Amino acid sequence: MGILLDQLQVERPIIQAGMAGGITTPELVATVANEGALGTIGAGYMDGSSLREDIRKVKQLTDKPFAVNLFATNLDASSADIQPMQRCLDGFREAFGIDAGEHAVQVKDHLDEKISVIAEEGIPIVSTAFGVLDNVHLERLQENGITLLGMATHPDEARQLEDAGYDIIVAQGTEAGGHRGTFDVVQAPDGNNIGLHVLVQEMLDQVDVPIVAAGGIHTKNQIDALMIMGAAGVQLGTRFLPAKEAGTNAAYRRALIQARSGDTVMTNVFSGRPARAIRNRFIQEVENSGIDPLPFPIQNQMTKDIRAAGKRLGRPEIQSLWAGQGVGAIEREESVAEIMRSLTQDERASER
Ligand SMILES: Cc1cc2nc3c(=O)[nH]c(=O)nc-3n(C[C@H](O)[C@H](O)[C@H](O)COP(=O)(O)O)c2cc1C
Repeated sequence: MGILLDQLQVERPIIQAGMAGGITTPELVATVANEGALGTIGAGYMDGSSLREDIRKVKQLTDKPFAVNLFATNLDASSADIQPMQRCLDGFREAFGIDAGEHAVQVKDHLDEKISVIAEEGIPIVSTAFGVLDNVHLERLQENGITLLGMATHPDEARQLEDAGYDIIVAQGTEAGGHRGTFDVVQAPDGNNIGLHVLVQEMLDQVDVPIVAAGGIHTKNQIDALMIMGAAGVQLGTRFLPAKEAGTNAAYRRALIQARSGDTVMTNVFSGRPARAIRNRFIQEVENSGIDPLPFPIQNQMTKDIRAAGKRLGRPEIQSLWAGQGVGAIEREESVAEIMRSLTQDERASER
């Protein structure tokens, strides 16, 4: 545990997950850092200049170290062969007053600019999802002395990350909210779905670098149990979604408070990659259409306008309500300080 705290330069072995898509505001990242844990900017979909802007805002709010999360994959993609799915999505667009979808879709990758920004801004810690970062980018980060965390959903992926020189592995159990970090979703279309306890134990047996546990963690008791097992720390996503400092929109917050643990499902209808979300109308109707989602990130780009309208109109039924299986524990909005207190203080002690 001490090794992890030294590597991450934090007081507590708790990481706020990098969550792409506007959740990880500079206020969230900085407040987590000021509370002694590791805050992470979710930069997967950002370009270089918006990442630099966010980094500078965080720096104005804290002098503590913080991390940036990237997708270890090239997002460059284009597709013209999208009509069947576009017709299905146009049904939602008509129902919610959104312009009809385009005939072709293009996505641009910004990984290279973001790696430069990270090096220039002196970011000490980077975490990645969806694979092992390519050699050129990996070396640039390593030359800058950056500590690397890689998300893995299978012991084989953990070994690949370790072999590539990653310093810490995040074991992402099937309970986890948001996208599965699974490297090859052609081979595993639903992602690898190993329960957190089994995954942590297998990784502890098979790799030598510290293991951070992620998936469904909401309480101090869970953190204590995982640390007793041998995890060096924990990474939490869903627990921070109702934080007052997070960018979570109001309809999403209400859905998180209402949802129970059995209400999440694994789906690829939003992005083309398997991810855990609260079941809603969009998931049900697209799945029932029988039309296969396009591969990531094309499907993600195609559904973007609908999800954005869901936020604007306050309609949870057309949003990607990413959440882990622990969502049933969420009862209300809280400040980061309150969340951190609940994760670190023994509440039973105060009751005695
Ligand atoms: C809203 C949301 C967005 C996420 N986005 C990312 C991301 O951009 N990059 C990443 O590595 N993990 C992402 N994750 C997954 C987290 O890294 C982590 O594995 C997960 O949140 C742990 O499970 P929990 O949500 O039950 O705590 C996301 C999770 C959520 C809930």
